[in-house]
Amino acid sequence: MVVLGPLALESNLCLAPLAGYTNLPFRLTIRELGGLGLATTDLVNARSLLERNRKALKLVETRPGDQPLAIQLFGADPVEMRDAAQVAVALGAAAIDINMGCPAPKVCRGGGGSAMMADRAGTVRLARGVVEAVRVPVTAKMRLGWDDRHRVAPELARALEEAGVAAVFVHGRTRQQGFSGAVNLEGIGEVVRAVRRMPVFGNGDVTTPEGARRMLTECGCAGVSIGRGAFYNPWIFRQTCRYLATGEPQAEPGFEERVRVMSCHLDRMIEIFGERRGCVMFRKIGPWYARRFGPSSDFKKRIVNLAHRAEFDEILAHYRRWRAPFLDEQGELLPRYRPAPMPPLAAGGFAEAEPVIPVPRGPVARW
Ligand SMILES: Cc1cc2nc3c(=O)[nH]c(=O)nc-3n(C[C@H](O)[C@H](O)[C@H](O)COP(=O)(O)O)c2cc1C
Repeated sequence: MVVLGPLALESNLCLAPLAGYTNLPFRLTIRELGGLGLATTDLVNARSLLERNRKALKLVETRPGDQPLAIQLFGADPVEMRDAAQVAVALGAAAIDINMGCPAPKVCRGGGGSAMMADRAGTVRLARGVVEAVRVPVTAKMRLGWDDRHRVAPELARALEEAGVAAVFVHGRTRQQGFSGAVNLEGIGEVVRAVRRMPVFGNGDVTTPEGARRMLTECGCAGVSIGRGAFYNPWIFRQTCRYLATGEPQAEPGFEERVRVMSCHLDRMIEIFGERRGCVMFRKIGPWYARRFGPSSDFKKRIVNLAHRAEFDEILAHYRRWRAPFLDEQGELLPRYRPAPMPPLAAGGFAEAEPVIPVPRGPVARW
C-alpha cells in the first residue's frame, strides 16, 4: 500500500494520464476490473478550468465510483494553478497532479509543462503554493530531464518533496528522447535515491505484470504508473496486483470476458458522451479490444463506422459467425490463431509491437 499524505492507495499501480484517452468511461471500466490504486484525468488547462470552460469541465467529469482520482493541471501562473487546484478539489479530485512534462510549445512558452523542469526555483514556488492551497495530496509528473546532459529529475524531485509534494511520477526518458529508445530504469532509480520518504512512481513501457515487477525491483520505486499498457490490456492492474502478491503468471481473460468489458465500455461512452459522439469515439477503442480476439479483420472493418448502439450488436453477431471457423469444438481459438503473448518491458518493448495508442506526431511525442 502506498500513502500519499492523507490518501492511502489500495495498490501501488496507477493509471498514467493520456490526453484523449483517460476519460471517465475508460477509468470506470478499468476500475471495475480491479487492481488500480489511483487514476488521473487527461491534462487540464488551469485557466480553462477557472473559466469553467465546457471542455475543461468535461475532462474533469467524475462520479463517486471513480475514486481515488487525481486531476492533472498544467499552467505556469502560480495563482491560476493554486485557484484551479481548489476548483478541482471542489469538483471531486482526491489529488492534484502538476504536469511538468507537456512539450507543446504554447504550454512551454508560458513556462508550463516540461519548461518547468528548467526553472527549479519557480517550479518549487508554484508547487508550494498549490500544496498550501488544498488539503489533498499534490503530486508531479515529469520526465528524467531535458536531455542526457540535463537530467534534473532527481534534484527537482527532492526540492518538490521539501515543498510538500506527496509523490512524483517519472517517465524514464528525457524530453529529447521522445518515445524512442528504452526506458531508463537506472534514471528512475536515481530519482528514488534522491528523495527522503516521498513515494516515486516509475513510468514508461510497462505492458505486462512482469514488466511492472522489473521496474519496481530495479528502480526501487514505490509504485508503477501505466499508460498505453492499460489500453493494450485493461486487466493489467488486476493481473499485476495478483502477480506481485503470488508470483504466479496470470491467465489472460477469454473472448467472452473481453466482449463483456468492451460492451460495458461502449455503454459508458454513450451514457457520458451521448450516442452519436460515444459511438464515434468508440471507433478507435473497439480495435484495442479486438487485438486479443485472434483473427478480427471483420470486426475492425465494421467498428470504424459505428454510429448507433444497435449497430454494435449487429457487428458483434456478424463477427461471431465470421470467427467460428477459427475455433475448436470447445469454442477456443485454434492454437495457430491465438495472439502472441504481450511484449514485456524490454528495450523497445513497445517499439516491437504495432502501437495501438499512436504516440502523437510532433511536439506531443515528447511528453
Ligand atoms: C497519447 C498520449 C497522451 C499523453 N497525455 C499525457 C498527459 O495528458 N499528461 C501527461 O503528464 N502525460 C501524458 N502522456 C505521457 C504518459 O502519461 C506516459 O508518461 C507515457 O506514455 C509513458 O508511459 P506508458 O509507456 O505507460 O504509456 C501522454 C502520452 C501519450 C502517448
